[in-house]
Amino acid sequence: MSEPSYVRATRASYDTVAVDYAELLRTELAAKPYDRAMLAAFAELVQADGAGPVADIGCGPGRVTAHLDALGVSAFGIDLSPAMVAVARQAHPKLRFDEGSMTDLDLKDDSLGGVLAWYSTVHTPPEVLPVVFAEFHRVLAPGGHLLIAFKAGDERVRLEHAYGHALSLDVYRLPPDRVAEELGRAGLVETARLVREPDLREPTPQAFLMARKPGNS
Ligand SMILES: C[S@@+](CC[C@H](N)C(=O)[O-])C[C@H]1O[C@@H](n2cnc3c(N)ncnc32)[C@H](O)[C@@H]1O
Repeated sequence: MSEPSYVRATRASYDTVAVDYAELLRTELAAKPYDRAMLAAFAELVQADGAGPVADIGCGPGRVTAHLDALGVSAFGIDLSPAMVAVARQAHPKLRFDEGSMTDLDLKDDSLGGVLAWYSTVHTPPEVLPVVFAEFHRVLAPGGHLLIAFKAGDERVRLEHAYGHALSLDVYRLPPDRVAEELGRAGLVETARLVREPDLREPTPQAFLMARKPGNS
């Protein structure tokens, strides 16, 4: 079956920017205390439940996978872009990174303690999100946690230039309520959310939603 054009565009764009993206965002989390707070809460919950590893889905260069690893979480990364996976493997040789797509994960049912989607669903058209969230639900163990970060808003923006390269890639900004509703429809129950104001380099507020697959308490 041929791939949707948004998947081809996303892979090609991130293959193009991988090296520069990795360098530009290498220390970005250090200046984002709210973002780190959500990651710390996620790490603590996943570790307390001990229900399995975390897949960082759409991991890019693996900077957040490595951050989770430093917090003591067993984490591995998956990304659509072979160049991103290569950059992640080179930067973090002790961690595992695989190629794959969030719409069709090569992971067993109920096998993960956590799923992290850190700004990785932002190129997926909203009408495809039910497929992605169904995959997240499928691979999470009962009681497993999801943390998803995205750009809050209600519009599609065409990126023509990013990380020093010309490209053509859609970014979807979404209302947090809409994302929470879609997660609920997939069987994932919201447990926390943070919407923070943009910093100097961000045009819109940033949203972080935590959800859980029902099961173990
Ligand atoms: C904005 S970057 C974020 C990367 C990383 N999470 C970070 O914060 O540095 C988006 C990443 O999601 C990946 N991605 C987008 N759609 C994907 C899909 N369908 N399956 C897997 N990865 C995907 C892209 O290849 C890219 O590396």
